[in-house]
Amino acid sequence: MQTKKKVSVSDVIASKAKEKLAVITAYDYSTATLCDRAGTDILLVGDSASMVVLGHASTVPIGMNEMLIFCNAVSKGAKRAMVVGDMPFGSYQPSNSLALENAVRLVKAGCDAVKLEGGSEKAETVKALVDSGIPVMGHIGLKPQTSSLWEGYRVQGKTSKSAMKLMQDAKALQAAGAFSIVLEMVTSEVAAEITGSLDIPTIGIGSGTQCDGQVLVLHDMLGIYEDIKPKFVKRYAELSRVISEAVSRYSVDVKAGQFPEESNTFHMDADEALLFREKVGRSKSK
Ligand code: KIV
Repeated sequence: MQTKKKVSVSDVIASKAKEKLAVITAYDYSTATLCDRAGTDILLVGDSASMVVLGHASTVPIGMNEMLIFCNAVSKGAKRAMVVGDMPFGSYQPSNSLALENAVRLVKAGCDAVKLEGGSEKAETVKALVDSGIPVMGHIGLKPQTSSLWEGYRVQGKTSKSAMKLMQDAKALQAAGAFSIVLEMVTSEVAAEITGSLDIPTIGIGSGTQCDGQVLVLHDMLGIYEDIKPKFVKRYAELSRVISEAVSRYSVDVKAGQFPEESNTFHMDADEALLFREKVGRSKSK
C-alpha cells in the first residue's frame, strides 16, 4: 500500500482489486515494531495468542484482560500499520451492549478496529459496533472459537450448500458495515466467488490466491513451533532452530565461564577500586 501515514479504513477498502493486503498477527511491542517497519498493512492482534503465546489448546480460554495487554503493546509498535484487535470468545456473544463495551475497551487500548467471528447471525452485532463508530473486520469460514467446541478445524465451503451459506454470510457482514472479511480455510473456488461479489476486501488464510489480502499467524510463518505446520502456511524462517541453537550456545558459554566477556563488563575507576578494597579489608579485620 502506497501510504506512508497510518493505514486507514478507507485505505483498506480502496486497496480492493488494486493491491493485495499483507496482514500478519502480532502480540507484542517488539514484533509489532518489526512487522510495521517491514511494511505490513494490518497487524491483527489475534486471539490465536491464546495458543501461540499463552500455550492453551484453543482460542477459547483467552479473555479481554489478556487481549487488552497484547493490543496495547502492539499499538505502540504500529506507526503505520492498522491495528485490529480480536474480540475473544465470550466478549461479544452475550449481547450487543457487551460487545460494544468490549470493543470500546479494545479501541481505548490502541486498536484502530476490531474483529469478530460469525456470519449473518452476527450481522446485528457488527452493525451495532459500526453505528457506534467502531470499524469491524468480519471473520467467516472456519471460526476457531466455536469450531473447537463443535466439529473441529475443517475446510469450509466444500458443498454448494455450505458455499451458498458462506456467500450469504459475507454479504450480510458487508451490509452490516464490515470494512473487510477474513475467510479462514474456505475452498479457493468459494473464496474467489465471494471476493468477486463484495465491494470490501477479503483477507484469506488457507483460502487460496484470489482473496484481496492474506493473513498468517506470525509464529507459523516464522517457524517458531517446529512441529506445527498447517498446509496453508508458508514458512519464511525456521526460528525454532535459530532460537534453540542460540540459547544452547549461551548455556554452554555460561557454564564454561566464556560469557560474559571483558567487553560485556563494567569497571570502577582504579583509585575507587583501591579505596573499596582497603575499606573491605578494614571491615574484615574488625
Ligand atoms: O486469531 C487469529 O490469529 C486469527 C487469524 C487466524 C485470522 O483470527
